[in-house]
Amino acid sequence: MSPFVLTRTLPPDATAAALRADVAEGLTGSPKALPPKWFYDARGSRLFDEITRLPEYYPTRAEREILLGEAGSVARATGARTLVELGSGSADKTRHLIRALDRLDTYVPVDVSESALAGAAATLLAEHPRLTVHALVADFQDGLVLPDTPGPRLVAFLGGTVGNLLPAERAGFLAGLRARLAPGDALLLGTDLVKDERVLVTAYDDAAGVTAAFNKNVLLVVDRELGADFDPDDFDHVALWDAEQEWIEMRLRARRAVTVKVRALDLEVSFEKGEELRTEISAKFRREGVRRELAAAGLELSRWWTDAAGRFALSLSRPRARG
Ligand code: AVJ
Repeated sequence: MSPFVLTRTLPPDATAAALRADVAEGLTGSPKALPPKWFYDARGSRLFDEITRLPEYYPTRAEREILLGEAGSVARATGARTLVELGSGSADKTRHLIRALDRLDTYVPVDVSESALAGAAATLLAEHPRLTVHALVADFQDGLVLPDTPGPRLVAFLGGTVGNLLPAERAGFLAGLRARLAPGDALLLGTDLVKDERVLVTAYDDAAGVTAAFNKNVLLVVDRELGADFDPDDFDHVALWDAEQEWIEMRLRARRAVTVKVRALDLEVSFEKGEELRTEISAKFRREGVRRELAAAGLELSRWWTDAAGRFALSLSRPRARG
């Protein structure tokens, strides 16, 4: 019996096709926008890793603090035999959870990056030789088909990444997830919380300029993958707080009038001086909003933990019985 299985639910060219569609739509629309998932090529993933160690970027440390303190509570509350982790990446914070889940049989990391999955699986299998790892190469936003593994299942979606989805996308995503859960399963969701505007903006506009480089990296991804000729130096990094929507928005602002060719799309795109391209929203939450969004998806909030400073929350929710 092999403890490592990998399933690809993404056809090999799906990612390329999705990028083309997103760039075609995002650069011809108004205002211009690109989805944040395209930050994460090898360089972007490295820059994100660097961000998580910046003094200004508190969410990773705050979430780790909660996981370290409450992994045992999560284990007792769920009795999970399968842990599904969406957007698992390097699965760094997950090991606290895996260590605490004493009935765990199978770990299902889900990520679009096959190399990240293989790396994380190797590390975890070295620590837990009896664990079965069933890695899933998939985009968590598309209809997830989970492998048939022992229940109860715990689905973890950490890091606050749910906040990178627009409200309507979030509603669809949560409802789709709810449809995959059986009675007794649970969702562990990480959400960054509303706080002082200066703290929030600084977390997305650090002094060392790592977040600026991360933001501009999306232009280099489009250059390489679609033969575009963006010059990252033509754009300024912008991070701002939208108090109405309660989200941080990252943008790239043209420093001068810029015309860009995207060869693979046979497309020419013009930016006026000062025109902005939205590259990410990162929504910040309050307990009541999380409860409401979960409830709208058929999930009932059962536990809520924050770090000592109240910056970040982990919530546990369960499918509501369907009437
Ligand atoms: C951890 C992916 C949710 O929105 O805070 C970090 C990504 N963007 N700095 C976030 C990010 C800018 C991040 N996620």
